[in-house]
Amino acid sequence: MKWLYLAAAVVAPAQAALRFGCASLTIQRLDPLVEPGRTPSSHLHQIVGGNAFQPNMTGDIGEQGSCTTCVFAEDFSNYWTAVMFFKHTNGSYKRVPIMANDALPSGIKGGMTVYYTQQDFNSNGNTKIKSFPPGFRMTVGAPTHTAEQTGLRFVCLDTKSTRFPELTEFPTKACKGGIMTVHHFPACWDGKTLDPPDHQSHMYNTVKNAFQNSGPCPATHPVRMPQLAYETLWDTAQFASMWPKDGSNPFVMSYGDNKGYGTHADYVFGWKGDSLQRAMDSSCMFNACENGKPLKSQVVSSMNKCAVKDFVGESIDGWLPELPGHSMK
Ligand SMILES: *[C@@H]1O[C@H](CO)[C@@H](O)[C@H](O)[C@H]1NC(C)=O
Ligand SMILES: *[C@@H]1O[C@H](CO)[C@@H](O)[C@H](O)[C@H]1NC(C)=O
Repeated sequence: MKWLYLAAAVVAPAQAALRFGCASLTIQRLDPLVEPGRTPSSHLHQIVGGNAFQPNMTGDIGEQGSCTTCVFAEDFSNYWTAVMFFKHTNGSYKRVPIMANDALPSGIKGGMTVYYTQQDFNSNGNTKIKSFPPGFRMTVGAPTHTAEQTGLRFVCLDTKSTRFPELTEFPTKACKGGIMTVHHFPACWDGKTLDPPDHQSHMYNTVKNAFQNSGPCPATHPVRMPQLAYETLWDTAQFASMWPKDGSNPFVMSYGDNKGYGTHADYVFGWKGDSLQRAMDSSCMFNACENGKPLKSQVVSSMNKCAVKDFVGESIDGWLPELPGHSMK
């Protein structure tokens, strides 16, 4: 009994959970992971994180950046998703602005809420959570998908705090508080591959919805990594008066999808040194991880100031005759 107790104590769950804001870094047609070097890429993305972001990224970006839009000053990772547009019945498109999450400090410009949790909020499953290594990259979902995807959800917001129900596709009615897109990444790694050609086969997904207990990692992908998730809040409410009379959903993602099954997200790891591992080994929760306990953090004005140059130089605002990059449609 005593032995068992001691063994359990050694792997005692460290219950760190990170939830933090990252302001918008840039909104451009770039995709250094799936279309490296291509300027412009096929569709528009909204990107947050470190300023090493550029059309073709290689190496350890945690060592390349000089600023980040995230609250944790050592997190030079890049996080991105597609962008939402409103399609008017007259055929014109307008980009849907991104709202700040009211669970975060006020004043953050656009961007996303990023989570790194253990197996779930209540348990690490008695497994050490291993940080992603330098050079690690992955995607979840794909623009070509035409059926429901694991861990990728839409929430019709009543207020900014609404979190349920999670929908597998775009809401089909006007949402009073906007729409939230949620991207949960797989958390089980094969332990070997930093970034395979498909950006996905090195990872295994044990999650379905929300932040539920995700079960053990399989033998093929035995290494439990942090459960990474993004939340993005889209200010769709300002288009409510222009909702089509036939009741059809007027919102469309930047790759031309108004159903939502092609929703996808990208991640390039870029935490400096062992900072993410130190955080996951601690027991801090959310903003209690700031101010050196154990992570260095920065104020909102510094987050908002970090940016990258406009590599593409196309107009993405105002009423547009087509989605950026979709002129052949
Ligand atoms: C990206 O940069 C790397 C390193 O400089 C280079 O080897 C590679 O060919 C580049 N890829 C593209 C598609 O430009
Ligand atoms: C569509 O409607 C919007 C909003 O009224 C307007 O600004 C835009 O110019 C219209 N587009 C066309 C092609 O008429």
